[in-house]
Amino acid sequence: VRSSTPAGLSHKEAELYSRLDPARFPRHIAIIMDGNGRWAKRRHLPRIAGHRSGVFAVRNTVQCASRIGLPALTLYAFSVENWLRRPKTETSFLMGLLRRYLKIEMPAFQEHNVRVQFIGRWRELPAEVQERMDWAIEETINNTGLRLTFAINYGGRSEIVDAVNSILQTARRNGHHAEVDEESIDQHLYTSHLPELDLLIRTSGEMRLSNFLLWQAAYSEIYVTEALWPDFNGVKLLEAIGEFQKRERRFGGIESIHHSTVHTA
Ligand code: IPE
Ligand code: IPE
Ligand code: MG
Repeated sequence: VRSSTPAGLSHKEAELYSRLDPARFPRHIAIIMDGNGRWAKRRHLPRIAGHRSGVFAVRNTVQCASRIGLPALTLYAFSVENWLRRPKTETSFLMGLLRRYLKIEMPAFQEHNVRVQFIGRWRELPAEVQERMDWAIEETINNTGLRLTFAINYGGRSEIVDAVNSILQTARRNGHHAEVDEESIDQHLYTSHLPELDLLIRTSGEMRLSNFLLWQAAYSEIYVTEALWPDFNGVKLLEAIGEFQKRERRFGGIESIHHSTVHTA
């Protein structure tokens, strides 16, 4: 049992936290926040009601992640495919929700020392959304706690394409012959500044990646919960970490390795 429990945790969160092994704490957790539509459907509500409730789950999860000292949390909020394949009414609602969320949440980000960042082709989004995102980045740029990254208009394949193009462009500019290897791709991914992805969580029971962090998930532990995203929270995050700590990570070797100390060649 750990001697000191972080301040601000709920009774249940503190209890789960006390059972964790401090030596095997994940450094980077990513979550595919799925199931808002199903949550709403079960209540005979419109899909957007599910998205609205999903914001409470984001708030609670971020708060807990920050209190337990998690270095990095990446949340899949919106895929390239969502943008292309969902009705305009729903995508517009999600854009408005994101803008409101960033504004409303700012005092909490500051209080908890959270640094907000974004990954994905979010420069393709409407100007007023980008402005709010730029604002959130700027406002939190000096915060040194949790690195909170939202994947917005994100696709794992387009991320790899963007990385390769950026390598080619740099080489062309310098008049070099472009050579691509694992390390150079790593360094050009949107996530190059983040720790290796230790744990990937998906809510609502679906057993697929849906184009999320394809490269980064190579050796991540995957945890799928039946809980729909609006029902997710800090307690469920701590349960996922508990499960993560029971896994034996080998990275292709024969011995268990606690952390992703293995890097690409
Ligand atoms: C996840 O919930 C949120 C986004 C993809 C924006 P969904 O909207 O995919 O909910 P389901 O999968 O239809 O239940
Ligand atoms: C994945 O959920 C994308 C996000 C959570 C943002 P989807 O609901 O879009 O995935 P599929 O369509 O079930 O694969
Ligand atoms: Mg879905």
